[in-house]
Amino acid sequence: MMSAAVHWLRSEPLGIVRSAILAASQSEWLRVHAPRYRFVRRTADRFMPGEKLEDAIGAARKLGDHNIGSVFSALGENVTDPAEAEKESHYYVEVLAQLRAAGMPLEVSVKLTHLGLDLNPDLCYRNLKRIVDAAAGGLVWIDMEQSAYVDRTLALFHRVHAESPHVGICLQAYLYRTAKDMESLITAGAAIRLVKGAYQEAKEVAYPKKRDVDQNFFELTKRLLSDGALHRGVRGAIGTHDIELIRRTNEFASEHGVPKDGYEFQMLYGIQREEQIRLARNRYRMIVLICYGTHWYPWFMRRMAERPANTWFALKNIVAG
Ligand code: FDA
Repeated sequence: MMSAAVHWLRSEPLGIVRSAILAASQSEWLRVHAPRYRFVRRTADRFMPGEKLEDAIGAARKLGDHNIGSVFSALGENVTDPAEAEKESHYYVEVLAQLRAAGMPLEVSVKLTHLGLDLNPDLCYRNLKRIVDAAAGGLVWIDMEQSAYVDRTLALFHRVHAESPHVGICLQAYLYRTAKDMESLITAGAAIRLVKGAYQEAKEVAYPKKRDVDQNFFELTKRLLSDGALHRGVRGAIGTHDIELIRRTNEFASEHGVPKDGYEFQMLYGIQREEQIRLARNRYRMIVLICYGTHWYPWFMRRMAERPANTWFALKNIVAG
């Protein structure tokens, strides 16, 4: 009976398990209670090196030994208090100072709802701009959250990008609108990280089938690596662990004369480690996003939903005690 359950968890595609996990990621009760369980914490350890910046820097040094770069992200989202949003932005300024002192890459990734997007766009702008100013010489990546935030996120990106080049943005291939959004970002010569998309979205706004998301991802990748985008100074980051998409990307680049340093791959800490090392060894630009912090529950649940077989990993941790 156990093996049938395992088989189901491993084979289940984008359906019920994924929806259930994503729904649980929004539960306030679970956000408070789940991290208290040791098996949950042990499962989360797979995706983050620890809760402190020092843990993230330690992980980045190890990745650096393999010529893999790092981007740092302090976990948190949907803050409800303006003072907290401002405090988070000052924290990121401090993070950048510590990264500078440690000789680390000056790249961080932020969520705008962590900086007050739910509260007031001007407050969020000030908080983001503070971090971008502190990242001179580096880059602040803006994560993309649920589809309801996309317009506001793009508007804030363009506002800050008009004042400073040290800001980049994430786009999600599962959204129908992304091809159009990408054009305005290419015109601006932006740094763009393309990902598939991690949230629960309605079929009116996002491709429900994984096959269509993957196909759109590849079409968007081709545009990111096109002459038109590269001539505008676009920095194209292909954010995926999908080995087949990575292979097709490299094949396309090679056929179209895009040099290996004309684009980069980004992955999450702890996922496809061997592929990360293999790409770096073959002189592709490989960067790992290292997330850390105490507010990891919703982010961790999205990692679980990406691969329902991870649920099996969590179950094994219960058994291991
Ligand atoms: P896919 O889900 O098809 O996975 C391909 C293979 O990778 C799987 O078969 C499995 O082997 C492995 N894999 C993928 N996810 C795994 C997991 N969680 N655990 C174990 N193995 C896994 N999303 C978003 O909406 N907004 C954002 O700002 C970001 N930011 C971001 C930054 C970076 C650097 C990355 C790599 C990803 C994001 N994401 C994101 C998440 C993204 O949208 C997507 O959910 C995940 O990357 C999983 O999709 P893949 O492209 O890896 O493909």
